[in-house]
Amino acid sequence: MRIAVAGVTGLLGSMVAEQARSRGHEVVPMARSLGVDVVTGEGLEDALVGVTAVVDVTNVGTMKADASVAFFEQATRTLLAAEQRAGVERHVALSIVGVERAPYDYYAGKRAQEQAIEAGGVPWTILRATQFHEFAAQVYAMAKAGPLHLAPKMRTQPIAGREVASRLVDLAESPALGGYVELAGPREESLNDMVRAWARASGHRGWMPSVGLPGPLGKAQRDGALLPDAGAEIGSETFAEWLDRTTGTA
Ligand SMILES: NC(=O)c1ccc[n+]([C@@H]2O[C@H](COP(=O)([O-])OP(=O)(O)OC[C@H]3O[C@@H](n4cnc5c(N)ncnc54)[C@H](OP(=O)(O)O)[C@@H]3O)[C@@H](O)[C@H]2O)c1
Repeated sequence: MRIAVAGVTGLLGSMVAEQARSRGHEVVPMARSLGVDVVTGEGLEDALVGVTAVVDVTNVGTMKADASVAFFEQATRTLLAAEQRAGVERHVALSIVGVERAPYDYYAGKRAQEQAIEAGGVPWTILRATQFHEFAAQVYAMAKAGPLHLAPKMRTQPIAGREVASRLVDLAESPALGGYVELAGPREESLNDMVRAWARASGHRGWMPSVGLPGPLGKAQRDGALLPDAGAEIGSETFAEWLDRTTGTA
């Protein structure tokens, strides 16, 4: 099967492409750096020839609601219109558990993406995943106050990125559900412990203060708004196992 992966050069996109190729599929790689822009539509028509399923794992680096909504809405509309013209059979997108509950500006864009897919004309399935184990490394790099690395508090039930990628390829292979699948990792963790464990495994020895996010988002995170619902599918690799596999030092 020919599967187009939008956002193929990203963290999840590279894992989706690897997983799809390992199952014998032909992957059509899509990213701006490869000449395909899902916002402007550049390169899309040629890329989608003969494609059965599109997996959308694009992303935008913003914390602002307006910019997030503008990106995900426009990218989804452009992509779906091109998919309809090309006769693509299904659209599979990656969203996040709790986007409809937590008042986080970036999530406004993810929810807008979901709504654009629901309203669009291409059969669809949306996978809502919890934070990836890899999120610990991203937060370590980003959450800083001067030279100090911070350990933000948040309840999460993280999942290995490669398990998310594998499930996305399952969904691309299957008839569209016209609905949502939730996927979470095997146990609840606290993000501040994950970030500290990642830091130690990477050789960091300094003090890392715990910080709580202020306002409604902080409250939603502490209250567990980003934890999965009871019916969620549960992955197998724990954060500690992932850390051991990727750094060998858990
Ligand atoms: N982080 C988490 O814990 C988590 C949890 C659940 C779901 N998610 C979702 O997972 C998705 C993927 O995240 P990620 O961390 O893998 O993203 P990422 O590493 O930031 O990669 C983003 C990808 O999107 C591409 N892209 C951006 N703008 C584009 C455009 N206009 N046209 C075509 N390609 C474009 C980028 O390539 P170019 O720059 O070359 O265009 C890149 O390949 C996101 O939608 C995110 O919401 C994340």
